[in-house]
Formats: sequence, C-alpha cells, structure tokens
Amino acid sequence: MRVRNRLDETTTLHWHGMHLPATADGGPDQTIEPGDTWSPSWTIDQPAASLWYHPHLMGKTEDHVYRGLAGMFLLDDSAASALQLPSEYGVDDIPLIVQDKRLDDDGGLDFSQSMISPIGRLGDEILVNGTRDPYVEVADRLVRLRLLNASTARIYDIGFADGREFDLIGTDGGLLEAPERISRLPLSVGERAEIVVELEAGEEAVLRSFEPDLGTNAFEGRFAGADDTFDLLKLRADEKLDDSPDLPAKLVAQEGPQESEASGVRRFELGNRDINGVQMDRARIDQVVELGATEVWEVENTSGTPHNFHVHDVRFRVIDYAGEPPPAHLSGLKDTVYVPPGETVRFATAFEDYADPSVPYMFHCHILEHEDRGMMGQFVVVEPGERPAHGEPGHNHAEDHG
Ligand code: C2O
Ligand code: CU
Ligand code: CU
Repeated sequence: MRVRNRLDETTTLHWHGMHLPATADGGPDQTIEPGDTWSPSWTIDQPAASLWYHPHLMGKTEDHVYRGLAGMFLLDDSAASALQLPSEYGVDDIPLIVQDKRLDDDGGLDFSQSMISPIGRLGDEILVNGTRDPYVEVADRLVRLRLLNASTARIYDIGFADGREFDLIGTDGGLLEAPERISRLPLSVGERAEIVVELEAGEEAVLRSFEPDLGTNAFEGRFAGADDTFDLLKLRADEKLDDSPDLPAKLVAQEGPQESEASGVRRFELGNRDINGVQMDRARIDQVVELGATEVWEVENTSGTPHNFHVHDVRFRVIDYAGEPPPAHLSGLKDTVYVPPGETVRFATAFEDYADPSVPYMFHCHILEHEDRGMMGQFVVVEPGERPAHGEPGHNHAEDHG
C-alpha cells in the first residue's frame, strides 16, 4: 500500500477487518505526517469479504471520518467467485458507504456538536457513497448490496420500505455458510453486511433505515437516534430485467474459532467512556495474548449508553448475544458487534500468524466520539512465554476457561 497524506495535519490509515501484522495496521501509532507517504505491506490471507479503511488518529478519528475519509476494500477469492452470486461491480454488486451528515445552507459540512447526544454528533441526512438522495438503476433480477456503516455514531436498522424480505449472504468477516432470509438488518458503526434483494421489472424499491432498537431508555434513545428513520437508496428496476441465477443454497464452509477450542476467557466491561474502568493510555498495554491462542472474549455493557466493540486483526464468532443464540445478522464472522446497555456478548476468536511484542493492536467502541475520548485499549500478541517489549502491563491474562 502507498498512503500519501495530502492533508495539512497528521493522520493514520487503518485497514478495518484486515488480518495483518500490527506494524501495518494503521492504528494510533502508525502516524503519517503531512506530505509523507506510508508504505506498509502484508500478504492478504483471509476469506473474501467487504472490509474498509479509515483514519485512526488518537482523538481525531471522529473528525477525519466525518469529513469523509472512509473507503471500502473488497476482497475476493476463488471460493466466492465460484459461487453464482451477483458480482459485477456497480451493476448488480453495489458497494454502499452509508454516512450521516449535517449540512449548512451552502451545502458545506456543519461541525456543530450536540450537547445532549450520548453518542456524539448525529447528522440529519444520509449520504450514500457521498451522494445525497441517491438512486441506482438496475437491470438484473437480483442485486447484491454491500452495506458499510461508515457513520461516526449513527446506528441503522436497514430494510425495505415495503417490508420485503431479502437474503443476508455475508457479514464483516465474509460470506455465510448459507443465505439467511431476513427483513431487517441492524448495522452499528463500522459493521458491514452483504445482502441480495430480488426486484420486479419496472418497480422502485426503497432501501430504508427504520428506528433502531438500541436497548436504551426512551430519553437516551431519542438523542442517540432511536426514533429516526431515513431513506437510504432507491433501486429503480428497468422495464425488462435480465434473469439472474438463483442464489446458491450453500455459500462457503465456515471454519473459524470455536468456543470448545478456547484456552481462556477475557472479560471487558464497557462503562460510560471507559473499558474495564480505564481510558486509553498509549503507554499501557491492556492485554497480552499468546500467538496461536483461541479465546472467548466476554463483553458487557455496564452503562446505559449504546456501545459497540471492535477488535483489530481478528474475526470472531458470536457465541451468545444478550443471553440468546446469535441472531441471523450475527451468525457469520464478525469484527464489530453492538453491545446493548446492560447486556453481555460473548465471542470466540483466534490470534494467528503475527506476533509483535512492541506494537499493539486496538480494541474499542466504534462510536467514534467514544473512541476519541478514550474508550479504547491496546493488546499485543506475543510468542508463547514472551513479555511485551514495553508498556505497563494492565489487567492482562485470560482466565482459565470453564
Ligand atoms: Cu474501524 Cu479501530 O477501527
Ligand atoms: Cu479496525
Ligand atoms: Cu461507545
């Protein structure tokens, strides 16, 4: 990669969802000064998926992403391309980068902050791929939409205005084992999903975000966007549509981390703007993980505020969600998950290939105002028996499993 910073301020570029060495991750430590070029390299070795990238500068991530620094990164592989899925980029396979903005009278970005929102600045209109009031003309019966919530704080519950069902075929980490028929798709900040929708000739289908169930009380919810609905995109079907092959009944075999292989459990408590009672400190390594380990991570939102949880480098499998088996939209591989107030989410994940005792990866709430205010921690992956090279170790061992 060659990333040239043409801003007049420092930034970074993080590859969200990518399995890579910590030095290439683009977190708060890999800063790029104005005019400089950062050239990380790594071998891409993970299943086909819809990933993304965005700056990750300490304290400035919300600002940089709100200004539009976000893009999608589509990975393909032979297993995915052997399937008869809609896959013609921009024709029947359409990336949708969803961001909310507040615009002033001249159409410029409004940077005013809300004093009451528990999750930071929320926009009152949606741009998809940077476009206001977007539509797409469709000439095929089946269309695949790759959705990315690249908003800074807003959480969506995506469906169609007429309530039609559609097929979920992929989540953050790649394709599902089999399509899941759903009519609503909750999508918190940073999450991705791939869906396939069927259209009829001549119709206009409206992709909409309905009132998201944030699990907060009504007052908190109101200022966190729980009462908001938006039209996201119009799909205008031609008078004659080309037929598409039916969706395959099976997609890709799911390997991936299993709870039964886990060597330990690590607990995370999400507070108001902290994790396990502490805020981000670049001088502290919060967690030390051994290369090769599979672990269960247990994340509880002990606050009344909406939070989600994202882990760099890995993909995880949700074991249970608020005490229940994971719903369809969390049934595949994930790297970001919503954690409702008062609830616990447990997932299994494995740390493979890359150890570096001196460069950390991040875990954090992906509501960017929370992240910027310190709701983030650092972990290093080390060779078995090795110690982190520097940094005060925090609360850092997995407890025995079972
Ligand atoms: Cu989307 Cu730490 O990142
Ligand atoms: Cu990330
Ligand atoms: Cu949060």
